[in-house]
Amino acid sequence: MLKGLCVCPGSFDPVTIGHVDLIERAVKLFDGVIVVVLNNPSKRGCFSVEERLDMLAKVCLHLPTVEVDSFDGFLTEYIQKRETRIVIRGIRTIADIDYEFQMAQINRQMVPEMETLFLMVTAQYAHVSSSAVREICGFGGDISAFVPAIIVEQIHERLWPHGRMQ
Ligand code: PNS
Repeated sequence: MLKGLCVCPGSFDPVTIGHVDLIERAVKLFDGVIVVVLNNPSKRGCFSVEERLDMLAKVCLHLPTVEVDSFDGFLTEYIQKRETRIVIRGIRTIADIDYEFQMAQINRQMVPEMETLFLMVTAQYAHVSSSAVREICGFGGDISAFVPAIIVEQIHERLWPHGRMQ
């Protein structure tokens, strides 16, 4: 167990079982975990920040050392505000590495004491993504293998309000 807080940042649009797996693993490593919803300028959001926070709070209910938060600004500003320096990100595919490498370097150039730790995805979640959830649900498909059971209906009602899941 490492002392102190770490931050798990993301868009969480919406949170998936892959995210929850990463958060649960971070909980085992650090005294406390802050899961923060940030804006990714290259993605157009689907769920509001309030909806994302509500879903995150529901899926992290069993994790008492997790705090859920949101921030409008740079990740570097947020970690300084919270007086921590450790950021955890998950890696699913080789394609993730390019993007994550660049982001970690930019962040560390802005705040040299910041460290990004990467956890390899648990193999069974390697194909799970928020965009897949949005797409499957948008066409009325079953998302129950991709998101925690407690938020399936909420996502379904929002993205496929007039239909029934197939
Ligand atoms: O879940 P995502 O979309 O991969 O998360 C990316 C996120 C939100 C962590 C990243 O876009 C981010 O840190 N956004 C806040 C703005 C910022 O600090 N950008 C990095 C410097 S260019």
